[in-house]
Amino acid sequence: TYVVTDNCIACKYTDCVEVCPVDCFYEGENTLVIHPDECIDCGVCEPECPADAIRPDTEPGMEDWVEFNRKYAELWPVITQKKDPMPDHEKYDGEPGKLDKYFS
Ligand code: SF4
Ligand code: F3S
Repeated sequence: TYVVTDNCIACKYTDCVEVCPVDCFYEGENTLVIHPDECIDCGVCEPECPADAIRPDTEPGMEDWVEFNRKYAELWPVITQKKDPMPDHEKYDGEPGKLDKYFS
């Protein structure tokens, strides 16, 4: 599976949702997630993210992100159409520690 990671938080560009062939992105207030059981590993969303927030779970250290994505994909509504990014997306793009700030 692919997963959405830290740098989506507070940016949420949503370019990714338009290209997913199986519509497996889910939207929370501050970030998106991918449902790991629905993602077919096609990889087309990865280069679409301006924040470089989408990673394959084959990279090291992705286990926690898979669980994060699964947990919230079960709770949040699906998103299939691009919308405006969050108002301060430029300020927060690349800022470290966003997970702790928004999800603790
Ligand atoms: Fe959708 Fe493909 Fe991205 Fe998985 S890798 S979330 S199936 S676009
Ligand atoms: Fe987030 Fe990147 Fe999609 S910032 S909403 S994963 S395009």
